[in-house]
Amino acid sequence: MIPRARTAVLISGRGSNMGALIEAARSPDFSAEIMLVLSDDPAAGGLPLARKLGVAAEAIDFRAYTGKAAFEAALETRLAAASIEIVCLAGFMRVLSAAFVERWKGRMLNIHPSLLPNLRGLNTHERALAEGLAEHGCTVHLVTAELDAGPILAQARVPVLPGDDVAALAARVLKEEHRIYPWALDALARSLRAALPSLSGDDG
Ligand code: GRF
Repeated sequence: MIPRARTAVLISGRGSNMGALIEAARSPDFSAEIMLVLSDDPAAGGLPLARKLGVAAEAIDFRAYTGKAAFEAALETRLAAASIEIVCLAGFMRVLSAAFVERWKGRMLNIHPSLLPNLRGLNTHERALAEGLAEHGCTVHLVTAELDAGPILAQARVPVLPGDDVAALAARVLKEEHRIYPWALDALARSLRAALPSLSGDDG
């Protein structure tokens, strides 16, 4: 069997994208394996969900650390201990330092609920409605130090329909998030394996 890229998912909340990644990675054809879920918030609903889906899940409580550097050092220690090769941010609500991002350059993904470069930042569904956009969607991109600005790997569009409220629009976008995030992770894992076969070992 071809070795799969060892992947961690970082969350802060309910973890529906995390769940989609775990489900997709159950397929033997998928190029990444979800080894670990980490949350900066011990109350994140995604932690028990990950365990229910059979994946190790731990809180690294941001409030227990003296600052961002100490928190990120704890994250790095845990990622290294699990020999993680790819990190997926999935509703992870902390902005990581430029140094952290640089160490994971080309190996850290994020999902953002807008058609980047439009609507970077928070409250994208509210803003899409307020701006009267006809189209909205979601984007998977590589993480760079500049927020929501890294190279785009996948995008999906949805229409904004008459009568939409935030919940209806968010639900339409979320369905697409669950489709494109696994696709993008699989694509990244494949391309890393092709570029750096030693990353994932030798399948003989
Ligand atoms: C998603 O809309 C994602 O695009 C954004 O945060 C939300 C996380 O939702 N970054 P979930 O925790 O994956 O359900």
